Amino acid sequence: MNGMTGTHKTFAINQQETDMNDTPEIQEGHNSIPKGWLVFFFAAIVFVIWYVVSYTPAISGWSFYKKYEQEMAAAAKNEAAKPAGSYAGNENAIGEGKEIFAANCAACHNADASGGIGPNLTAALKYGSAEKDLVESVSKGRPNGMPGFLPQLGQDRIGKVVAFLEKLRNK
Ligand code: HEC
Repeated sequence: MNGMTGTHKTFAINQQETDMNDTPEIQEGHNSIPKGWLVFFFAAIVFVIWYVVSYTPAISGWSFYKKYEQEMAAAAKNEAAKPAGSYAGNENAIGEGKEIFAANCAACHNADASGGIGPNLTAALKYGSAEKDLVESVSKGRPNGMPGFLPQLGQDRIGKVVAFLEKLRNK
C-alpha cells in the first residue's frame, strides 16, 4: 500500500513537470546587448577601417621605406651639426669634464691645469693641441710619464675632459 502511494505521488509530480514544459508559447531569449558592448563593437569597426586606410600604401601613400628614409635624414642632419664624439663648447659636458679632471688629472697637472708633475696644459703642448691630439694624449698616454686613460675613463669621458681643456686653453 505504501508502495502504491509512492508510485502515485511520483506520477503526480511528473505530471506537473510535463504540464510546465508544455507551455504553448515558444519564448525566445531576447536580452538586449549591453550599451558598452555596442559602443566597443562600432568603435572596433571604425578603428579597423581607419587602420586599413591609413596603412595601405595604395590609399594613403604610407610606406615603411618613406618613414625609414625620413628618420635617417633627420639623424644624418643631427650628425652633421657636430663632429662625432666632440663635446667642444658643450657647457654641460665641460662641467663634467672639469670634475673628471679634478678627480683624475689634477694630481699631476694641478687643478687649473697649470702644471706640476705633468706639464702645464694651458701653454704650448709638445704633442699638439688640436682636439684629436689632446684625445690621443689622454687616451693612449705619452712616453714621459703620462698614463693612458682610455681603459679607465672611456671615450665619452675623455671627450668631456678634452672639451674642458680646450675651454681653459681658449681663455
Ligand atoms: C701620473 C701623473 C699624470 C696624470 C694622473 C695625468 N697626467 Fe697628463 N701628463 C703627465 C706627464 C708626466 C706628461 C708629459 C708626458 C710627456 O712629455 O711625454 C703628461 C702629458 C699630458 C698631455 C700632453 C701634453 C703635451 O705637451 O702635449 C696632456 C694633454 C695631458 N697630459 C692630459 C692629461 C689629462 C686630461 C689627465 C687626466 C685624465 C692627465 N693628463 C693625467 C702626467 C700625468
